[in-house]
Amino acid sequence: MKITVVGAGNVGATTAQRLAERELADEVVLIDIVEGLPQGKALDMYESAPVLGFDTKVTGANDYTATAGSQIAVITAGLARKPGMSRDDLLQKNSAIVGGVTEQLLAHSPDVLLIVVSNPLDIMCSVALARSGLPSTKVIGMAGILDTARFRSFIAMELEVSVRDIQAMVLGGHGDSMVPLVRYTTVSGIPLDDLLSAERVEALVDRTRKGGIEIVNYLKTGSAYYAPSAAAAEMVEAIVYNQRRLLPCSALLNGEFGLEGIYMGVPCILGRGGLEQIMEIDVTPEEQAALQKSATAIKSTLSQLKL
Ligand code: LAC
Repeated sequence: MKITVVGAGNVGATTAQRLAERELADEVVLIDIVEGLPQGKALDMYESAPVLGFDTKVTGANDYTATAGSQIAVITAGLARKPGMSRDDLLQKNSAIVGGVTEQLLAHSPDVLLIVVSNPLDIMCSVALARSGLPSTKVIGMAGILDTARFRSFIAMELEVSVRDIQAMVLGGHGDSMVPLVRYTTVSGIPLDDLLSAERVEALVDRTRKGGIEIVNYLKTGSAYYAPSAAAAEMVEAIVYNQRRLLPCSALLNGEFGLEGIYMGVPCILGRGGLEQIMEIDVTPEEQAALQKSATAIKSTLSQLKL
């Protein structure tokens, strides 16, 4: 197994580190346009292997020939948000970057499976799909696991219980209109509504929606990377080990939830083939309306691009 991570910034480098430390591949290749950056970070990472005891080879390169034969590529390339910016502000620049990266990846690994992390996420998935010519089962976006992890963290903090006992699912676009499904949120099977007042639940939902910008406002020079890289690594693991995990990911919709032609966060089964299945769960009219609203926002951003 050879995995390429494109972008040696905070998200990319941390993702590469997580993949290597968990030995999810024989080789992890870190790619970046900045000369020396992927080489230096990859070598530094590999020098941690004797201490941590992992056998994954980590290499860095500026040239995509080093990526040849990758089975999976995680695309993190692009600009990150600064305070005051929305994810959509990154649209034009990042679509050019993600489009170019996709073509270069495919030139050396025609059967690669793409996990897209760059923002605005759902749109960047459409860019990668269009430019790669891959089937949509092999182009999947990382956002829902991150948004869900944030929701679970906030619930754990509020209830002072282990994060491990909280099950939740945040669907919709990776933006202000994301859709946390409170009805499906439980603490070891106990519905969240039985444990918290409606006001507290709403406050946690609101914090989840603004979870990305909360970190941007603290960091000031960039956006989150510990949780995003953990989420990307979880998707890679589900695919590498054919786990058939049911995870919220951004997938191309083809009539599911009454939506078509856009990428959006939905419950996905991930396995060796990538996106094995979109699980179409029952949603209430209110939830459907929220998903529709999220889809409308994605469509309007997507229409600003020529794909
Ligand atoms: C976030 C940005 C990276 O949610 O989209 O942290």
